[in-house]
Amino acid sequence: MNRFCWPVVLVGALLVAPALSAPADATKETEPKRKPDVIYVPTPHAVVEKMLEMAEVKKTDVLYDLGCGDGRIPVTAAKKFGCKAFGFDIDPQRVKESRENIKNNDVGQLVTVEEKDIFTLDLSRANVVTLYLLPTLNVKLIPQLEKLKPGSRIVSHDFDMRGIKPDKKIEFTSKDDNRSHTLYLWTTPLKREKDDKGSAEK
Ligand SMILES: C[S@@+](CC[C@H](N)C(=O)[O-])C[C@H]1O[C@@H](n2cnc3c(N)ncnc32)[C@H](O)[C@@H]1O
Repeated sequence: MNRFCWPVVLVGALLVAPALSAPADATKETEPKRKPDVIYVPTPHAVVEKMLEMAEVKKTDVLYDLGCGDGRIPVTAAKKFGCKAFGFDIDPQRVKESRENIKNNDVGQLVTVEEKDIFTLDLSRANVVTLYLLPTLNVKLIPQLEKLKPGSRIVSHDFDMRGIKPDKKIEFTSKDDNRSHTLYLWTTPLKREKDDKGSAEK
């Protein structure tokens, strides 16, 4: 090759190399379709166990974890109680991690994880719902949670649901991080808190 050809070859290689190493839409596999409403922070394992204990999960229950991260809540519920469990996350990377977690723990018969926006879900099949979101997101979920069967349990890690009275609120210090975690339990039908004038909050 003569010395005038090298620059052409080099530029050509630079143009072609990225196309060879990464398909044009490879990022689409791991990027959410829209920005998640809250970032990923996993619930420590000891807190997961406490949440499931608080919800009194049993084999016949159907658990939904809304924003499931690496799937640790549904995976633990299936392993420990043998119940059916579903996880939903908007972030494909989290869905991938959840599916690996399901495989590593051999609970594929019981646990399903889907890439979905939790605000589009019909929750009528669930009777246990777990949350680790934000207070505003918990409130935004109320219309969906109100459609749960009577006697369903909702447990939230760290955040309350303004306007809805919890049946139980506990502080739990996790051995994983030595931090105190607040856990809330609500059972359906949800109980509206009274405002200052004594009427139920909207
Ligand atoms: C704080 S993490 C909790 C993860 C898991 N539930 C746990 O307790 O370990 C919140 C998760 O919600 C997901 N998320 C945020 N907005 C969402 C939405 N609109 N629909 C579905 N998932 C969402 C995030 O991607 C993240 O994985």
